[in-house]
Parts: sequence; C-alpha cells; structure tokens
Amino acid sequence: MNARALNFAEVRERARRRLPRGLFEYIDRGTEDEIGLVHTCRAWDDITLTPAALVDVSSRSTTCTLFSREAAAPLVVAPTALAGLVWKDGEVALARAAKSAGVPFTVSTQSVTAIEEIASTGARIWLQLYVWRDRSLTHAFIERAQHAGAEALLLTVDTAVSPNREYNVRNGFGIPLRPTLRNVLDVLCHPRWLAGVLLPQLASSGVPTYAHYPAGFRTAIGREALGDAVKLCERVTWSDVQELRRRWTGPMLLKGILSVADACRAADAGCDGIVVSNHGARNLDCAPTTVAVLPAIARAVGDRMTVLVDSGIRRGGHIAKAIALGARGVLVGRAPLYGLAADGEDGARHVLDILREELDRTMALTGCTALDDLRRRLPASGGETEALTI
Ligand code: FNR
Ligand code: LAC
Repeated sequence: MNARALNFAEVRERARRRLPRGLFEYIDRGTEDEIGLVHTCRAWDDITLTPAALVDVSSRSTTCTLFSREAAAPLVVAPTALAGLVWKDGEVALARAAKSAGVPFTVSTQSVTAIEEIASTGARIWLQLYVWRDRSLTHAFIERAQHAGAEALLLTVDTAVSPNREYNVRNGFGIPLRPTLRNVLDVLCHPRWLAGVLLPQLASSGVPTYAHYPAGFRTAIGREALGDAVKLCERVTWSDVQELRRRWTGPMLLKGILSVADACRAADAGCDGIVVSNHGARNLDCAPTTVAVLPAIARAVGDRMTVLVDSGIRRGGHIAKAIALGARGVLVGRAPLYGLAADGEDGARHVLDILREELDRTMALTGCTALDDLRRRLPASGGETEALTI
C-alpha cells in the first residue's frame, strides 16, 4: 500500500501516473508558451512572510465567513470542467470532499454530472456560469441552479474565445476529440483509469456529455456544440452582468477580474464579490499574475465586496500570503482535481486537508492565531512587485 501523499507535488505525480496523458495535460498545462503558468506559480513562492516572535499561538483557527456562512478554511473548490472524466462520478466525489472539509464547491457549467445530483450530496454549492449565445437558455439554466440550491453565482469573464492550448491539439485532447491510434494507446496504457472511470461510465450512462446543456443540444464531451444557441458567446458585456444581477437572488461574483477598474465596475454593478484570477494561467499567456494585481484591487474594493483569488495556489502558505495581500479566501482548481484523480473523494479531501494544515502551520510560525492577524499585513500601498516581504 502506498504511503499517503504529503503535498501537492506528490499528489500531482500520482495523478500523472493514473490519467491518460491527454487528460492530464488538459488539466496540468497552461496556454501557448506557458510562460504565464511559470510566473503565476512562482509569484506566490517569491513572497516572504516575516514571523512575529514570541506570540502565544496555542489556540488558532483557520475559519472564516464567506457570504454570511462559516467555512473551515478560506478555501473554495474552483469550477473545473470535466471533473467527471477524472474519476467515476467525479463532480459528486469532489462535492462530498468539499462538504466534509467544510468548504464550498463550485459546479462548472461544463460539468459531466448535473447540478441537482451534485447538490443532493448536501454540499454547499456555488455555480460557475458560461453565457450561451441564446440568453433565454442561459437564464433558464441559472433558474434551474437556483432551484437546485446553488448559493452563489460566479460569472466567468475571462474566456471570450477558446484559448490556444496547442498541446491539446498534439496530444489528441482537442475538439473534436478523434479516436486516433495515439489516444487509444494512451488510454490502454492507463488501465486503472480505463477500468475505474471510462468503462464504468460507458456501461452505466454511455458516452459522457455536458449535463447542463439543454435537451436537444447535449453533445458528447469532445464534440463541437450542436447548435449556435449553446456556443459560448463572444459578446458578453456589462449589460449581461446587470441582467444576471437582476435575476440572481444570492451572492453574485465575477471570476477573472485582473484590474482595479474592472473590480470597481463590478462593485458598482452590484456584484457581491470577485475572483481575481487568470484562470490558472490557462487562457491568456501574457496576463498578469494574480499576486501582481491583488493588493491594489483589495485596497480599492475590499471593503465593498468579497475579494477572492486563485491561480497557482499549491501550498497552504500561498493561502496565508493571499490573505495577507487582502483576499478573503482562495479558490483551488488543479489541487483537488489531482487528489480526485489519485484517490477519488478521499484523495480530494486529503488535498484540502493538506492545504488547511499547511495554512495553520504557516500561521503558527508567523505568529498569527486568526486570519485577521494575516489580513492586517496588507501593505498600505505598493505590494505589486513579485519579490515581496510582508
Ligand atoms: C478550469 N477552470 C475553469 N474555470 C471556469 O470558470 N470554468 C471552467 O469550466 C473551468 N474549467 C477548468 C478545468 C480545468 C481542468 C482547470 C485546471 C481549470 C479554472 C479554475 O476555475 C481556476 O480558475 C484555476 O484552476 C485556478 O488555478 P489552479 O488552482 O488550478 O492553479
Ligand atoms: C478550461 C475551461 C473549460 O479552463 O474553462 O478548460
């Protein structure tokens, strides 16, 4: 029996061995030259936290309040399309892991399992929205999510067109997905995934589809959208934000904000929060790192809305740095997905536990007993450099 993984890097390695290469690379890699991915991760590492000496840290807590409800840690599972391909009923397993870790789970528009089934786990559910060209179908979808019990709506605003992920073209994970000799061999070389995920999925419900696409438009994963109505819309603007705000009764956030101007505009539009995000460096290779823009955004709107951040969070220490730079919490995408790929619900839960424990230890070693102690470190100005001491 394998010893338990100790950190993100070990979990990632287990996921790499289990998943077909095309699927692993789809999750793991960035876009174009993948320079943004390197910078985005390194920016978290480059910050140092100065300890406060001789503080009694015998009683500590990582709990926080997110939209009036307590979470065990300032942590949210990010929306990741196709988590259902990583493990059998992957989205349900991830939601269960989030629930037992005491943090919210965000359902992707492009999930393999429908939101009703995910919500039946009793997890705290947020919904990520991609806007379809047909707005009436989009609005019907969010109504459906609200009925299913989704609490917050995250409108993703950084994906106006499909990103240029060249490696997916080469490794066979492009759209349309074609069964080539190469990707058939790829799958055959990963028998645990074949026997544990693909074959049971085919036997129980056939070829996986995008569960939220309206009847008549529900294509198999890897196929082009069936009609224009459900193609991702390139014309999503602030007037969509206004309309969604009018329709959504719970907290609404924009995910993918990277400038102070857009953050202020989101607050003016009545949003309750933003996710400062470059989409895990998967979309625009030359986008800024989230570390570079977070402090100024937090100073500008942190008292008007909930500022969350993601992209490149690999250690609990990174979460401590995010809080010190003004975020109320972080989203994690790849980390729980790798846990899921390695060991299903238990693996995802284990990764969330590792991150929380690392955060707790970082707090103790820097003289912090609560997240507010970290928060007080937000520099009054500056902080946008990538070699920062706080
Ligand atoms: C994503 N992300 C994403 N975001 C979104 O708004 N809708 C989506 O459907 C997806 N799908 C998706 C799939 C996969 C495989 C990954 C890795 C990511 C982005 C995600 O929500 C989040 O912003 C990043 O993953 C955060 O970066 P880290 O934690 O993965 O470094
Ligand atoms: C991705 C899309 C689905 O990052 O958001 O793959």
